[in-house]
Amino acid sequence: MGKVIYKTDEEIELIRLSSLLVGKTLAEVAKLIKPGVTTLELDKVAEEFIRDNGAIPGFLGMYDFPNTLCTSANEAVVHGIPNNEPLENGDIISVDCGVLMNEFYGDVAYTFEVGEVKPEIKKLLKVTKECLKRAIEQAVVGNRVGDIGYAVQSLAEENGYGVVRELVGHGLGKDLHEEPQVPNYGKRGNGLQLKEGMVIAIEPMINLGKRNVKEHTDGSTIITVDGLPSAHFEHDVAIRKGKAEVLSTHEFVEEVLKNKNY
Ligand code: CO
Repeated sequence: MGKVIYKTDEEIELIRLSSLLVGKTLAEVAKLIKPGVTTLELDKVAEEFIRDNGAIPGFLGMYDFPNTLCTSANEAVVHGIPNNEPLENGDIISVDCGVLMNEFYGDVAYTFEVGEVKPEIKKLLKVTKECLKRAIEQAVVGNRVGDIGYAVQSLAEENGYGVVRELVGHGLGKDLHEEPQVPNYGKRGNGLQLKEGMVIAIEPMINLGKRNVKEHTDGSTIITVDGLPSAHFEHDVAIRKGKAEVLSTHEFVEEVLKNKNY
């Protein structure tokens, strides 16, 4: 990893276009999520949608990843590989997607409920989403990376959840993973100072139980050690003065979910 690459406003607009396409791709996925669907089916639809929109799946082939989507169900935190197992009522599934378009990446994740999910898991999703919102509020000029981590960690731990430390948010641009690393834990006022022109992906990964994770024997999927569920939401954000500029959106996804009947 090198140093932070600052973006011009024109480049930030291109990252916004890529990020928006990911948000729309996740909305296509949202339409299909229900008990019985397989993550490979979701992956196929996502890949086609991305290519139909003139972009390239961003994760496919990256670090030898074989698919378009990372689909991580229940105790899987991130980097799950789509497979032929049908989703079941009560599951949750994190869908993380990247695209490359006009030489710039977008990278967005959303954790979906499959059918009827237990209240304690619904709460995990709600709090993780709120962690992301609070983190974004800290992503302004003059603040530090530790302010973002603190915002996530403090809210998650107040709720008794474990904050995953082994995986972090990141700078985003012509590379999917640029400097700086953006951990979901930290101390206020610590770490690299945020400046205009930085674009970062913020992605809290929050466990219902303990924070510890390990790699699955498939060599890709990260799972919780205690086997309890984990939630993951991600947005791409440009650092601005006073208020962060969120380049990605979950609006398309939430529009689909709102109108969905099982
Ligand atoms: Co990311």
